[in-house]
Amino acid sequence: MKATKDTSLAERFAEVRDATMKLIEPLEIEDFIIQSHEDVSPAKWHIAHTTWFFERMILKEFKSDYQEFNPAFDFLFNSYYNTIGPYQPRHQRGVLSRPTVGQVIEYRKYIDEQILELLSETTDSNMKKKVKDLIGMGIQHEQQHQELILMDIKYNFFVNPLFPTYAQMEKHSVSKRDETQFVEFKGGLVEIGHDGNGFAFDNESPRHKVWIEPFKLATSPVTNREYLEFIKADGYEQPEYWLSDGWSVVKEQNWKAPLYWLKGQEENWEIFTLAGIQDLELDEPVSHVSFYEADAFSRWKGKRLATEAEWEYASQSVAIHGNTMDEGVYHPVASNSDSESESLSKMFGDVWEWTASAYASYPGSKPLEGALGEYNAKFMCNQMILRGGSCATPLDHIRETYRNFFPPEKRWQFSGFRLAEDQN
Ligand code: AVJ
Ligand code: FE
Repeated sequence: MKATKDTSLAERFAEVRDATMKLIEPLEIEDFIIQSHEDVSPAKWHIAHTTWFFERMILKEFKSDYQEFNPAFDFLFNSYYNTIGPYQPRHQRGVLSRPTVGQVIEYRKYIDEQILELLSETTDSNMKKKVKDLIGMGIQHEQQHQELILMDIKYNFFVNPLFPTYAQMEKHSVSKRDETQFVEFKGGLVEIGHDGNGFAFDNESPRHKVWIEPFKLATSPVTNREYLEFIKADGYEQPEYWLSDGWSVVKEQNWKAPLYWLKGQEENWEIFTLAGIQDLELDEPVSHVSFYEADAFSRWKGKRLATEAEWEYASQSVAIHGNTMDEGVYHPVASNSDSESESLSKMFGDVWEWTASAYASYPGSKPLEGALGEYNAKFMCNQMILRGGSCATPLDHIRETYRNFFPPEKRWQFSGFRLAEDQN
């Protein structure tokens, strides 16, 4: 019994580690090192950092006589764990021409072997549980970085005037959608948050009660077609729709459209994707908008964003499937099913959906002990919650209780939004 369970964790570990290696296959050596923005990390750094996570959090803690691969890696590939020690500043990850990509791949192989060895040699049942839980967490961490790798490659390629192509994507057949519909929810005293069955990050627990007033939620995320109306109505020029901080960013950064939107030769819009520059597809969910843009659009429409509690409560009746990293499209796609008009669609996959909720801790929530307590809780200030996963999120990484978070001005993640409104 036990042996089969361990094998499946070992298999899952190998599977997820391999998936990372698949993601970097289309890259040339030169692509691995650049850091075009301080938020964007080089692919080489990502594949080393996720490896370091297994080494530092598991091997150094639990493997007897563990020989570290390279003592310098603790400084180079620690991301932000201050209780562990000093680290390479985030904005200088792109200056690391060494270790080479080849050496980092050797590092990955070494750590993979050591982890599998630790898993099979650990017999003490207490320790075994800890090791398995941590490997489970390392796997989830690796998956978070798979999405970050795609986000960061996209940004690095975008700033290159050659607009390189990462992967070809299949053109999806598209049918025009009707007007967005709204689904009514009664609300009341409901429960959200993780109940402790299966994996979740510490910020998703505990499950707790929240009061929700009756509300309506849009059946699908806002599309490029709808968002273009906002642009054409001079939404970016009208301060009344914008939060004060948002308006400052719009002016400072001279925002006129979502990130990756480009004006084509005939003034038509094009967008940069991981498959290169494409004509703007009007029925796709709008992507790469900041919280400020999502919020301003909603106000312009006379609607609002859903709170994270409303979003989670509404999603409880929805099966988890959609256009995720597994599809290999790496771009949100249009809905093409008529049956979707009456019920919630695209809750999972395609685009992360900005909510109206600030990233804060749940009542009774406890961060993990030790260095891993720094994983989520210390970021609970000045960030907003996004829900549902995107076209760059692995399907089996998505949960209805999953809380993603980004500062309100960030938009290099695959972020869109869905409208909500009060019921009266
Ligand atoms: C949840 C996506 C904001 O990018 O820092 C990666 C994910 N946490 N390593 C981030 C994460 C630790 C996190 N986000
Ligand atoms: Fe990380």
